Amino acid sequence: MGMNMKSITLSFVLLLYVSIGTAQSSDGVFDVTTYGAKPNADITQILEKAWKDACASPIQSKLIIPKETYTLGVITMLGPCKSPIDIVVQGTIMAPVDITGDGWIQFRYVDKISLTGGGVFDGQGQKAWASNDCHKNPKCARIPMSLKFSFVKDSIVRDITSKDSKNFHVNILGCKNLTFDHVTINAPGNSINSDGIHMGRCDGVNIINSVIGTGDDCISLGDGSRQVTVTNVTCGPGHGISVGSLGQYLVEEPVAGLYVKNCKLIGTTNGLRIKTWPASPATGSVTDMHYEDITLVDVQNPIIVDQEYCPYNKCNRKIPSKIKISKVSFKNIRGSSGTAVAVKLLCSADYPCEDVQLSDIDITYTGREGPVVSECSNVKPVVTGIQKPLICPS
Ligand SMILES: *[C@@H]1O[C@H](CO)[C@@H](O)[C@H](O)[C@H]1NC(C)=O
Ligand SMILES: *[C@@H]1O[C@H](CO)[C@@H](O)[C@H](O)[C@H]1NC(C)=O
Repeated sequence: MGMNMKSITLSFVLLLYVSIGTAQSSDGVFDVTTYGAKPNADITQILEKAWKDACASPIQSKLIIPKETYTLGVITMLGPCKSPIDIVVQGTIMAPVDITGDGWIQFRYVDKISLTGGGVFDGQGQKAWASNDCHKNPKCARIPMSLKFSFVKDSIVRDITSKDSKNFHVNILGCKNLTFDHVTINAPGNSINSDGIHMGRCDGVNIINSVIGTGDDCISLGDGSRQVTVTNVTCGPGHGISVGSLGQYLVEEPVAGLYVKNCKLIGTTNGLRIKTWPASPATGSVTDMHYEDITLVDVQNPIIVDQEYCPYNKCNRKIPSKIKISKVSFKNIRGSSGTAVAVKLLCSADYPCEDVQLSDIDITYTGREGPVVSECSNVKPVVTGIQKPLICPS
């Protein structure tokens, strides 16, 4: 009797072990097709299940979405996970047209993940752009960003495309050491509020070898962005590479450390921009912003520090910004401007810009309002090398 019980218990334990073993994939490979994913069908629940299993895997795992087209609803891939996860997206993942909320695909509290595979995230944003009235309707429905990385550490996104996002393509919050390499972002120039990569309160973001064309900022740094490098990125259409806007809210962390190198801006409405609101409710700072080896093709406002940023006239322009901008350099910035004012440095009267350097600025403008000029206030930059236009002549 006792013997019998033991062997029954043993075989039960064995059975349990075997069934857990298959569900969790002993080799650490989790392919959505083995969970029943069918081409052109919705995989939301399937991916939730596969993510859960990958996240629980004691060994480094691979989560595979093969080269098919799938629909995916709102999903959060939540950590912390037991081991690193490589998410390989080879196919095209389509967002439903009508979802609302904060984010479509969210990664939260994970570290050591990679998102690779050459796949495409298609936000299907056309309808959302057409109905976006959030600049005038405070009760507008929330429009989800495509890919959100919140509190993600030591991770990389490589060979991935984001297309037609309803709102921002990529939003990064509270992350540390996050790299975007060979990322393609595309949406039409008139797609509203579709920032390419927006970040805030993060330390160590690298955006390299990427091509971003969209309807808003290609890259934007919100408050608390630190140590950000942008190298070999092409931007356009879009609103350029922006810091800010800052100085709109009471609690904002400093922005410190932006290194933009070897980038190209094509037909954008701004180039290299730092923007802060007048009448800011609190003091703040932007420091160590460095731009080098930048090519411009028909860029409006190629170099623009604008401390009088006030869209829709939602502020009191008479009160200067309280954001202090310092240690900013522009080196070897060349190409063509779409406006006569190629260099605009409008700093705060109460907190003038400090330690601003420009060298080898060679910008042409061939339009009617020429010649090419600069416009400056509350700044005394150190200028060396080529000066086209003449920078802040007194
Ligand atoms: C940053 O993350 C990458 C990718 O996971 C990793 O290889 C690298 O070691 C991390 N760097 C630091 C300083 O932790
Ligand atoms: C720059 O980025 C482009 C686009 O991804 C890529 O094709 C090219 O190889 C990169 N250049 C270098 C030097 O890595």
